[in-house]
Amino acid sequence: MDRPTSQRPIVHPYRRHTPGTQPEFLYEPYRSTITRSPRKPLIFLPHTLSETTGPVYGHDDVAEADHDLTLQHSGEPLGERIIVSGRVLDSNGRPVPNALVEIWQANAAGRYAHAKDQHPAPLDPNFSGAGRALTDQTGAYHFVTIKPGPYPWLNHYNAWRPAHIHFSIFGRAFLSRLVTQMYFPGDPLFAFDPIFQSVPDEKARQRMISRFDLETTQPQWATGYKFDIVLRGEEATPFET
Ligand SMILES: [Fe+2]
Repeated sequence: MDRPTSQRPIVHPYRRHTPGTQPEFLYEPYRSTITRSPRKPLIFLPHTLSETTGPVYGHDDVAEADHDLTLQHSGEPLGERIIVSGRVLDSNGRPVPNALVEIWQANAAGRYAHAKDQHPAPLDPNFSGAGRALTDQTGAYHFVTIKPGPYPWLNHYNAWRPAHIHFSIFGRAFLSRLVTQMYFPGDPLFAFDPIFQSVPDEKARQRMISRFDLETTQPQWATGYKFDIVLRGEEATPFET
C-alpha cells in the first residue's frame, strides 16, 4: 500500500485467477455442486483496503506441538508416518510468513474421527486427524502425520476419494485464504474423482499433488512429501468448491 500526497491510500488489488485453473462452481459429476453453485453471473467487487490488509490474526494460541498429529494421544497412531512440508507463497512468489496453516484428514484406514463418518473402517484411538502450524520467515511449514487412506463416498456408484489431506491457509487478509486438498503422487483414483477433475486445467490439477522428497524423508522414521502453496495469481493452488 502506498500513500500519495492526498493521503488517500492506493490499493493494489490481488491478481485474478487465470481461467481454467480453478474448479468450476458447477461441475455436474460432483453432485453437490448442482445444488450449491450460483445460478446468476458473479458480481466482481473491487478489492478495497479492508480486503487487502485485514484483519490481522493473533496466533498466540498455536502451540509448537500442534504440527505433530502423531503425538496427540498416549500411543502412536497406526499407519505410514510421513512428514509434509512446503512453503506458502503469494502471487508474486514471495514467502508468506506467519500464515496460519490448518490441516484435517482421515486416518490410515480412510476413516475420519467424526460422527458423520460411519463407513466400516476402524477408528484409531491414537489419531484425531487435525493439526495446525504457522509459517516461518521463509514461508515454510511442516507437519508430522500419518498417510491417510482412500475412503468411499456416495457421490456416484463405487465412488472412492483419492488419499488427501485438507488444507486451510490464511495469508495476510480474508481474500488470501485458501481451502484446498493435497493429494499424493501416482494415485490410481485421480481419473475417477470428480473433485480432483473439477479443475479443468491439467497443470493446475498437478499443483494439488505433493511430490515425494527424499530430502524430507528421515531415515528409519518417516517418508517425506513436499507441498508448496500459492495463495493467488496465475500459479495459484486450486481452491476446492
Ligand atoms: Fe476428505
